Amino acid sequence: MHYDTIKNEHNLPHDPFKAIVAPRPIGWIGSRSKAGIYNLAPYSYFNAIADRPHFVMFSSVDIKDSVKNIEETGDFTVSLATEDLFDHMNGSSVPAGSEVDEFELAGLKPQIGKFVSAPFVSEAAAALECKHWKTIDLPNVDRKLGKGNYVIFGQVVGIYINDKFIKDGLFNASAARPLVRLGYMDYGVVGSENTFSKNRPKLGKDGKLEAVKEWDGVYR
Ligand SMILES: Cc1cc2nc3c(=O)[nH]c(=O)nc-3n(C[C@H](O)[C@H](O)[C@H](O)COP(=O)(O)O)c2cc1C
Repeated sequence: MHYDTIKNEHNLPHDPFKAIVAPRPIGWIGSRSKAGIYNLAPYSYFNAIADRPHFVMFSSVDIKDSVKNIEETGDFTVSLATEDLFDHMNGSSVPAGSEVDEFELAGLKPQIGKFVSAPFVSEAAAALECKHWKTIDLPNVDRKLGKGNYVIFGQVVGIYINDKFIKDGLFNASAARPLVRLGYMDYGVVGSENTFSKNRPKLGKDGKLEAVKEWDGVYR
């Protein structure tokens, strides 16, 4: 199979795109409306995109409450969606009106950020506090109708970590067990059973690749 995506010629019952670009991390976006209503929703068109300063992005199909709130208030959070919180994360994805507090709906306790005015999931192993930098409207959007794809970029100005998940000075992601989104209705979980560590090699004096046995903290 080798097909034209514009013509959507895959002839499969479902578009395989998201099953190919998988796993994707889940950005569990917390925000607050101008009226002060808390909002929470998962977004898997999400990723970390830069260090120093740290930046994240997520993409919304149509202008949803998260986009509206973030553009109005300038603040949002990203809580880590983990295996133990799956039902809460899934519950928070229900399309509810902007008057509905999805923290309450999903049975979660909001905590206002230390550096931003948006709430994060207090039960989460970690959360990022973000300031809206800009929104990029992808081609063919109609802002008047709120239709199309909108990419929100945010600078991470604060990070919360539940100290329980710090081990030997490292964030113990395998213990937190983050959820990842696959295609269709499929998910995965990151745990010690499916992760491993391996150093990147360096370039030796002879121009050949040289193994680095002990990681020295340098991301080469
Ligand atoms: C795991 C998961 C990932 C999702 N990823 C996205 C996404 O990347 N973009 C999007 O527009 N909607 C996504 N959704 C759907 C939104 O969560 C849903 O439309 C939600 O109601 C939006 O809430 P809001 O209006 O409060 O922002 C996802 C849902 C789930 C369960």
